[in-house]
Amino acid sequence: MAGFHTKTFMVHDDYMTPAYAWENIEEYIPKDKIIWEAFYGDGKSGTYLEEMGYSVIHEPVDFFENDLGDIIVSNPPFSQSKEVMNRLLILDKPFIVLFPSSKINTQYFREWRTKNIQIIIPRARIHFDKKVEGETPEDYKSSCNFDCFYYCYKMNLPSDIVWLEEDKKPKVVVKKYKCECGSEIRESNKEKHFETKKHKKFIEKKKKTIKPKKKLKLASKK
Ligand SMILES: C[S@@+](CC[C@H](N)C(=O)[O-])C[C@H]1O[C@@H](n2cnc3c(N)ncnc32)[C@H](O)[C@@H]1O
Repeated sequence: MAGFHTKTFMVHDDYMTPAYAWENIEEYIPKDKIIWEAFYGDGKSGTYLEEMGYSVIHEPVDFFENDLGDIIVSNPPFSQSKEVMNRLLILDKPFIVLFPSSKINTQYFREWRTKNIQIIIPRARIHFDKKVEGETPEDYKSSCNFDCFYYCYKMNLPSDIVWLEEDKKPKVVVKKYKCECGSEIRESNKEKHFETKKHKKFIEKKKKTIKPKKKLKLASKK
């Protein structure tokens, strides 16, 4: 269930939800319901919900063959959004699911037009933790290039569109490094910076201005 191949490229569905994505909407998830976090991934998403005080069912079972809990709160595989939304229509139980905002333009979402679907719009883009075969790829910058909505059904939100005002996402502290050449750079960019023209020019200039040390004459033995 991790990733799958098409003829021309590989699609990965393993975008794991960070804790703050659930913390952001805590006030809209009732505490007295059993949550089915229906798509397992690495299992952390269910743990985050449990840590927030919810009763959660989070097992690696097939979503299409099960019907668990009172409400579904999950981040399903985006590549199966049509099938997932159609299955949710059949299940007809309350849900909050994360999908790219662009999905609202699809034909299958039109099936929901009479169902009073509601959406929560996050304050800032959610950055998922991408996994490929269980590992975060080395070059993955943890920055998504798409926006998501929380699509909600029977969750009795105060309005059909809820705009989140606050984002619980922890602020990323970027470690800065002040180079001797005068540039302020990211700690992680140090190596690349040392290869820049500006830095090399500075080093060349520095070498020229440092006078070579005079050779010490050895005192002759008497
Ligand atoms: C976008 S990831 C999110 C995982 C987790 N819910 C989270 O929020 O971190 C979706 C996961 O659904 C799994 N998946 C795919 N098809 C599934 C199915 N039919 N039933 C259950 N899980 C499935 C994939 O393996 C993938 O890890």
